[in-house]
Amino acid sequence: MLVDSYNRTVDYLRVSVTERCNFRCQYCMPEKPFSWVPKENILSFEELFAFIKIAIDEGVKKIRITGGEPLLREDLDKFVKMIFDYEPSIDLAMTSNAYLLKGTAQKLKDAGLKRINVSIDTLKPEVALKIAQKDVLDNVLEGVEEALRVGLKVKVNMVPMKGLNDGEILDVMEYCRERDMTIRFIEYMENVHANVDIKGMKSDELLDIIGGEYGYKDEGFDGHSPSHYYKTDDGYRFGIIEPYEDDFCKTCNRIRLSAEGQLIPCLYFDEAMSIKEPIQRGDLKGAALVLKEVVRTKPEKNRWSEDDGEASSRAFYETGG
Ligand code: 5AD
Ligand code: SF4
Repeated sequence: MLVDSYNRTVDYLRVSVTERCNFRCQYCMPEKPFSWVPKENILSFEELFAFIKIAIDEGVKKIRITGGEPLLREDLDKFVKMIFDYEPSIDLAMTSNAYLLKGTAQKLKDAGLKRINVSIDTLKPEVALKIAQKDVLDNVLEGVEEALRVGLKVKVNMVPMKGLNDGEILDVMEYCRERDMTIRFIEYMENVHANVDIKGMKSDELLDIIGGEYGYKDEGFDGHSPSHYYKTDDGYRFGIIEPYEDDFCKTCNRIRLSAEGQLIPCLYFDEAMSIKEPIQRGDLKGAALVLKEVVRTKPEKNRWSEDDGEASSRAFYETGG
């Protein structure tokens, strides 16, 4: 078992398979980065899998594949199957922008993927075009329908932004509710990579809008998720993620692996250790030691509340958010 210095069991590994993306979301990657990580610096599926096996042997029970956009990596279903075959009981999930899901959902499901989180920030094509800077909506919605059809469990993320999609909170919520998908509203997180004009919305503004339509009650946190959950009086459950809080840190069970092999104990801080060298040398013991060291040094909580410029400038598209 992997236990950190604050007695939290770390059993959730997020694996970014690429930092590349086919969208240019205003809040994440509004411009193509000056340079992508060269392909030869990205770990192969075999190398990632070699590390994942170690992590599973040490007690990891949940793996989420992230990006960038993970479906840009060819044969992702084969990678899913490698993990599933090694440990069929693993809770295997993916976060995707859904653009390429239509042609891949069935293969991913057959390979052992159980759940996906997708972003739906709007139901209006022209707003999707503004946010992702590409005409993406049809493909996204078709991808979501396909994922549901093949039996994947789908959760939806929406980042509410003033002047962009703030009028669609209830509509996107309704769209999700009709399809039995949980929606989580994510407060916009400022970061140096985002478009400076973006204005996010806070949870109380969102709850005002939702409360104008539904009665709801607060259900608090659920398990290890950073999302605060609420339930409408007629039984629909939705979440709000307030990244600037640190109350969810107490139950944090996650670490992240970047596509280049950086193992990251906390999204807020820059600290990370590479597993690339030991994995490429075939030194599995060495990689296990790095894993244990990263878990040992996992910080107690983020420092947004006293932010003194310590926040990492690492892009969310490197770590899958
Ligand atoms: N603020 C809030 N959420 C973000 N995401 C990406 N960048 C940001 C940001 N700056 C979210 C997207 C996606 C998930 C992977 O991360 O909505 O659903
Ligand atoms: Fe791509 Fe997701 Fe970032 Fe949008 S939020 S640019 S879809 S990685």
